[in-house]
Amino acid sequence: MSDSPISSRTTPTASRTFTPAAGLQIHPFDAPLGAEVFGLDLSQPLDDADFARIRQAHLDHHVLVFRDQRITPDQHIAFSRRFGPLQIHVLKQFQLARHEEILVVSNIIENGAPIGLGDAGHFWHSDLSYKETPSLGSLLHAQELPEEGGDTLFSNMHLLWDTLPAHLRRAVEGRRAEHTYLAKYAELQRRNPWRPNLSAEQIAEVKPVIHPVVRVHPETGRRALFVSEHFTTRIVDLPEDESRALLDELFSYVAQPANVYRHQWQPHDLVFWDNRSVQHLAAGCPDSMRRKLYRTTVEGDAPF
Ligand code: SIN
Repeated sequence: MSDSPISSRTTPTASRTFTPAAGLQIHPFDAPLGAEVFGLDLSQPLDDADFARIRQAHLDHHVLVFRDQRITPDQHIAFSRRFGPLQIHVLKQFQLARHEEILVVSNIIENGAPIGLGDAGHFWHSDLSYKETPSLGSLLHAQELPEEGGDTLFSNMHLLWDTLPAHLRRAVEGRRAEHTYLAKYAELQRRNPWRPNLSAEQIAEVKPVIHPVVRVHPETGRRALFVSEHFTTRIVDLPEDESRALLDELFSYVAQPANVYRHQWQPHDLVFWDNRSVQHLAAGCPDSMRRKLYRTTVEGDAPF
């Protein structure tokens, strides 16, 4: 993907002022969301006390960064499963061999064919919002990183909702919107010739769904904007032009630096985000550079 949607590095980055100490520690970033988890080796089983702290930190900070995790795909899957059942991505073409729970996110072409989905996060989105039960959270593990670019941006949908101008809150309160996996598919295929054609079976698997425009987080009770540039096509019961104008206005707040943490990947990072609380975007990297990450996706509840 050569046309990076975000090329500057003006958004907050992680604070790196840590002195090693024994045991699990959670250090919030100097940013509108996110924290780094220290003192955990995810190749080892997690005891119940540490698991409870990670779960709480995930609810509190929405994005957790675990550095230098030398884990296998099986260990990645096992850790992800602690949070709930895993969802299998519709693009079966890009499953990791013998690990259908892992989606390969990569721009690498091998033997004339892509090994993964190269433009997974080209538009802001919450993973699998186009399903009846969208994702609780995603866990992305770095395998191969470019020397330049390749960052992932996360925007805090609770903060966005809490600070949205009153006229916009009134305009969307109680409204519902349509989400579909196909919303940007043809556009992405035009930009990226490697994106596969979908079979009739795959298209049938991703029928449009309707969700509230503002959802309540099922565990914290906090409200969050739940419409995205990538998957939301319209607000139901509004004329097309009004719906488009309202969505575009809402989307302009998602990218605002005041709501965003920018993750600069390091080798073997594992990043675990809450799709009920954040949207994310892949900033892109030069086509000539290789980028490969493995993603699992934990199933969540039907939004309300
Ligand atoms: C994704 O949207 O899950 C991929 C994000 C990334 O490649 O940085």
